[in-house]
Amino acid sequence: MFATRCAVRRLPQRAARRWAHTPATLKFNSVTEQDIAHFQKILPAASIISTLSPVSSPASELSIFNDDWMNKYHGKSTTVLRPKSTKEVSEIVKYCNERGIAIVPQGGNTGLVGGSVPLKDELILSLGNMTKIRSFDPVSGIIVADAGCILEAMSEYLAPHDYIMPLDLGAKGSCQIGGNVSTNAGGLRLLRYGNLHGSVLGLEVVLPDGTVLDQLSTLRKDNTGYDLKQLFIGAEGTLGIVTGVSILAAPAPQASSNVMLALPKYDNVLPLFREVKRQLSEILSAFEFIDRKSYELAVKHGQGRALNDEDVEGAECFVLVETSGGKREHDEEKLNGLLESLLEADEPLINTGVLSQSPAQFSQLWAIREGITEAVSKEGKAYKYDISIPVASFKEVVDKTRDHLKSKGLLHDDAVKHVVGYGHVGDGNLHLNVVAAAYTPEIEAALEPFVYELVASYKGSISAEHGIGAMKTHALQYSKSTTSIDLMKKIKALFDPKGIMNPGKVLE
Ligand code: FAD
Ligand code: MLT
Ligand code: ZN
Repeated sequence: MFATRCAVRRLPQRAARRWAHTPATLKFNSVTEQDIAHFQKILPAASIISTLSPVSSPASELSIFNDDWMNKYHGKSTTVLRPKSTKEVSEIVKYCNERGIAIVPQGGNTGLVGGSVPLKDELILSLGNMTKIRSFDPVSGIIVADAGCILEAMSEYLAPHDYIMPLDLGAKGSCQIGGNVSTNAGGLRLLRYGNLHGSVLGLEVVLPDGTVLDQLSTLRKDNTGYDLKQLFIGAEGTLGIVTGVSILAAPAPQASSNVMLALPKYDNVLPLFREVKRQLSEILSAFEFIDRKSYELAVKHGQGRALNDEDVEGAECFVLVETSGGKREHDEEKLNGLLESLLEADEPLINTGVLSQSPAQFSQLWAIREGITEAVSKEGKAYKYDISIPVASFKEVVDKTRDHLKSKGLLHDDAVKHVVGYGHVGDGNLHLNVVAAAYTPEIEAALEPFVYELVASYKGSISAEHGIGAMKTHALQYSKSTTSIDLMKKIKALFDPKGIMNPGKVLE
């Protein structure tokens, strides 16, 4: 095994089409050759990809923009525009609004709910060419960046200044800060730094009529009426296009460590979380849950390095604990103390703990957790449910879903191969993934509304962090009251009366 075990005693087919959810009433104009001629006045040739003449790009160039990360949702756009400035975005949007052309704003296209690709032939406005860091203040830690900056590139920019981004996710190498803001992405650091509603200080947004709303504040405190930027955080591109983001970076921890704990039974997760919080207190920065099958899939598909067999034996699930603090000796002492007390307890909550001993080992343990998404999609076609429910019910929900599919005769290798659970225990967020041989209407009908009703029965949320996108518009009422949905519709109509901005996403 790569990582020294702590002073540890071992104890005993193609997507089912989702057009059914497409708003039938919305009618938009398709992009024409005349429109392309107009875009050529706004943008240089290299910023326009279109199968229409006179650009005539091969269709293959469009597919990475039309197909989503899971290859589950497929748009039919003829045209992708890649502006380099807010002014260019504004001119494009103003023109599209006048012409009645619908727009899908697109960041890194790593979204998991079909929000980032067209439902039909909407124009795709990709932010990928807007990659400037506009400013950074090393005293306050406030960084202002173009929306198209890749999350990982921002982290790399901050590292020499001893700061980190307040969010981190497995898609960091591709997702963009504008996409993160627009989905209100959660991820692996939320337990420590909270969500983007807290750390985003300001936004620059191009509204659906082309007006630039400049709220790119760098103030920590600003109580001057309605906080409009909050509306765009998690709006999934339905209210406007985020072009600039001001965000509060966090001081880089001086010492970080992690340990993979193997638990004999799921019931130990909650008491373990309580104990870990009690003992590690201010240095606890992540508490991530991985069920046995998720671990096996990660290892099978080359994510991270496998633990030793004896560390895995008898484990029903795993928890990855991370500490981030100011002083290595102090933090290590606390972590070792925790492990000793866990292992020496009369009724131990864990079987073993595998403690990383170097930065490489630290990354390898994280790679197991972060790699589950990719592993699941290599294993088959994933139906991904991203839910908030009481932590005590995580296992019950996974088991009930598996039993339900079994009762429908769908739990076999040619239909549903696995039902797995992993996620952010610290945030009450379970990722329930149903891994199938193919996306089929039969499996989808077995899962929905079953899963949404199950979530509602726990008074949970049908989306903890991935959003609604195209996938869950029809299920919004399971988590939002009619009054809330009516208000959301009024807000949408106020910002976007023609409905051109990412139609059919979030709201039906
Ligand atoms: P896209 O996928 O391009 O777009 C997502 C949505 O935002 C779309 O509705 C799009 O229209 C809109 N949008 C994008 N950019 C803009 C903009 N500039 N202005 C207006 N609207 C815009 N999500 C989590 O919350 N937590 C995780 O831990 C997590 N891990 C992931 C791991 C993997 C391997 C993958 C593939 C995905 C993961 N995700 C996670 C989901 C996804 O990465 C996030 O939702 C991410 O924030 C999307 O960013 P993006 O730039 O790829 O946006
Ligand atoms: C994660 O926590 O790994 C992400 O949200 C992605 C996923 O749910 O697969
Ligand atoms: Zn997640």
